[in-house]
Amino acid sequence: MHPVYEKLQGCLASIRQKTDFVPKVALILGSGLGDYAEEIEIHQIIPYEEIQGFPVSTVPGHKGRFVLGYVKGVPVIIMQGRVHYYEGYSITDVVLPVRLMKLLGAEILFLTNAAGGVNFDFRPGDFMMITDQISSFVPSPLIGSNVEELGEQFSDMSEIYDKDLQKLLESTAEELRIPLQKGVYIQLTGPNYESPAEVRMCRILGADAVGMSTACEAVAANHCGMKICGISCITNLACGMSETPLNHKEVQEIADQKAPDFKRLLTAALSRM
Ligand code: 6GU
Repeated sequence: MHPVYEKLQGCLASIRQKTDFVPKVALILGSGLGDYAEEIEIHQIIPYEEIQGFPVSTVPGHKGRFVLGYVKGVPVIIMQGRVHYYEGYSITDVVLPVRLMKLLGAEILFLTNAAGGVNFDFRPGDFMMITDQISSFVPSPLIGSNVEELGEQFSDMSEIYDKDLQKLLESTAEELRIPLQKGVYIQLTGPNYESPAEVRMCRILGADAVGMSTACEAVAANHCGMKICGISCITNLACGMSETPLNHKEVQEIADQKAPDFKRLLTAALSRM
């Protein structure tokens, strides 16, 4: 058995000792959005440290647990807090939770994050539906001998973000009258924010929003055959685009402010999946 798959089986066994819950949708909550998990119909909460071999997050504002439950009858598994590459984990460990949620039965991965706006048309507080991504600045989670149990090594990435899910998000946002930008997400390693020159680089490369998560998770999820959608909350414009320097606290404050709309959008979208 591939060692990555073996580790996954250990995690899976830890969870299956506690519950036989089968999620349809896996939802990862980004910074400032975590308390959505407490508002669903909760079936069970599993702290990451109770899962054998599971990477545990160290960032303030990120809780570390799975919340299993129902959103309008749809079974979901929510990650309240993700692990980031900048915390020092291998990229394989960073995407382990995504693969684990797939093994638990999740067919759809719904990614969320707080991101910096790179597109000059964006404003702090905007939501951006992710239509495509650039993950090339972090190592591919598929590096190493292929986990045959999960998918193909030379994995096709022509439609990472599922077209039907994109339509669903767009029509849901429209019905709720929540404006939804669209664009390309670029993942850099962090944990430092970008310099103005790096932000220009991101724009030249075709990115609309920049962050430190998500794209590697989408690569792993695409590899193992999940359908993927994603929304970024643009908490600030990236460095050099506005007068004020960035700080983590302000990023979280905007995320907090936009949380009510974000939650409405999540609930409505999830209930249709
Ligand atoms: Cl400006 N950059 C990155 N990498 N991540 C962010 C951000 C900026 N704003 C929120 N998250």
